[in-house]
Amino acid sequence: MNSTLALLRSRLEAALVAAFGPDLADADPVLVPASNPKFGDYQANGAMGLAKRLGMAPKAIASQLLDHLDVSDLCDPPEVAGPGFINLRLKPEYLEAQLKAIQANPRLGVAPVANPKRVIVDYPSPNIAKEMHVGHLRPCVIGDALARILEFLGHDVLRLSHIGDWGTPFGMLIAYLREAYPDALAGGELDLGDLATFYRAAKKRFDEDTDFQEAARLAVVKLQAGDPETIQAWKVVCDLSNRTNRKIFDLMGLSPKIQERGESFYNPLLPDVIAELDRLGLLVEDQGAKCVFLDGFTNKEGKPLPLIVQKSDGGYNYATTDLAAIRYRVTEDRVQRVIYPVGAEQINHFAQIFQVGKRAGWITDETEFVHTPLGNILGEDGKKLKSRSGEAARLVDLLEEAIARARADLEARLTEENRTESEDFIVHVANVVGIGAIKYADLSQNRTSSYIFSYDKMLALQGNTAPYMLYAYVRVQGISRKGGIDFEALGDNSRVVLQDEAEFALAKSLLQFDEVLSAVEADLLPNRLCEYLFDLSKTFNQFYDRCPILQAEDPQRTSRLLLADLTARTIKLGLSLLGIQVLERM
Ligand code: ARG
Repeated sequence: MNSTLALLRSRLEAALVAAFGPDLADADPVLVPASNPKFGDYQANGAMGLAKRLGMAPKAIASQLLDHLDVSDLCDPPEVAGPGFINLRLKPEYLEAQLKAIQANPRLGVAPVANPKRVIVDYPSPNIAKEMHVGHLRPCVIGDALARILEFLGHDVLRLSHIGDWGTPFGMLIAYLREAYPDALAGGELDLGDLATFYRAAKKRFDEDTDFQEAARLAVVKLQAGDPETIQAWKVVCDLSNRTNRKIFDLMGLSPKIQERGESFYNPLLPDVIAELDRLGLLVEDQGAKCVFLDGFTNKEGKPLPLIVQKSDGGYNYATTDLAAIRYRVTEDRVQRVIYPVGAEQINHFAQIFQVGKRAGWITDETEFVHTPLGNILGEDGKKLKSRSGEAARLVDLLEEAIARARADLEARLTEENRTESEDFIVHVANVVGIGAIKYADLSQNRTSSYIFSYDKMLALQGNTAPYMLYAYVRVQGISRKGGIDFEALGDNSRVVLQDEAEFALAKSLLQFDEVLSAVEADLLPNRLCEYLFDLSKTFNQFYDRCPILQAEDPQRTSRLLLADLTARTIKLGLSLLGIQVLERM
């Protein structure tokens, strides 16, 4: 199905050409949703921008365009307003037919894109010598949502976790593994517990013993030299880390399709990257280090800034590895779009590696590399969120606390309503609400801005929150239970009839879903989808307050049931694209 917006735009474009000739084939009709329902549903404002080019008054342009515009199947007769706007109002018959069409469609009218791309979403990419903390929440949540949305739109999505699995931090852990679990490398079954406990014990040894520190340093040297036994110990530590992190991903409901392709993967490719940069004449030696001098980046003295790609001791760094990843993703993965949902503090890093990637010819006009910078998560004090002990809050603690609070809220409600529910029910609802609330709170903020983390706000039943949306969904399921309605059996000869203002508003909102997803595909801002779902839920609640459903007479009754069902399905699909589950009852 074609989105209404796209359909109208192509009609307007055709009218421009018909009215003013083929020169206008590149002109933009500037079609936007109307700012006020008074003016209809859409506005075409292109006449203003064309006044100079055509040497005509905008109003005259608009009315000439109208003479050639055929939208009678979609809209009431359009009008010119103000200095030259064209107001477009969708016809009830068109809305009714569209709704009927999406009702029969499991994708709710969202067609897969005509040109699917191969896309990499680089997430959540933690450093695995340490436990995941609050800083990883946004890459997890936003990376997962973007990957789901792009995949749903038909793109071929590769989820690659660029884990920090190489280098100095592993020395301490390898040395500790050797000392505390001498059997670990014999290949026997081994229970290392979780990474946190293992890490704390290693750190304690490191802090209290200088011999141990030396052993850790040596382990790094041996790791980098590829010593087989050290490599094996490193693998055991990575496994432990990845297993611990996978548990967190499962708790969060992240896609199981995430693949670990960490820094170590690119390690063997690094010498070749340096050699190629050298061949291309991009490499400059500066105080023993190999660098690429960057355009547009200067140091305090105003001199061009070097990006070091090989240190004077021969070691490589984060940037070198990312350059190897760029090259590999282009040449081997044959990717067309790479998205990095990574903290805003890495803006310079990405701008620099993308620049080098372009100058080396790896990134071309056919490939889009985008860093989508993420703002920080702040405590109530406006500083980065800390745990009680003053370190960065552990990710798993945040998740568990949200679930515990959701459970407490639910239990209070059950007591109040005099309801009893099984333990399974309580556990399930608490999980869905707790995790959903954390994710939604994160996704509903513009990803570039920082936000204050508040359990009270994210778990509130009112406002732009997950619980509000979940309730709207549950409310519809309640209607079907109460009326003994099987939505799927409403059947083919049921019709949508729109009469009440609230029905029109809901119908229009329902039909905007695919436009919203296209917008997210382009600008990678999942908060747009949250805003849309929030608006849809509010519009539905107004409809629900104004329009009786089960008590109405047919054809209203069936039509309203259809609208309610479509709302629920849109919320369910929309939330699932954000990685959030719904509940049939709560
Ligand atoms: N491991 C890095 C960190 O925790 C993030 C990596 C992001 N991805 C990348 N290709 N650089 O800060």
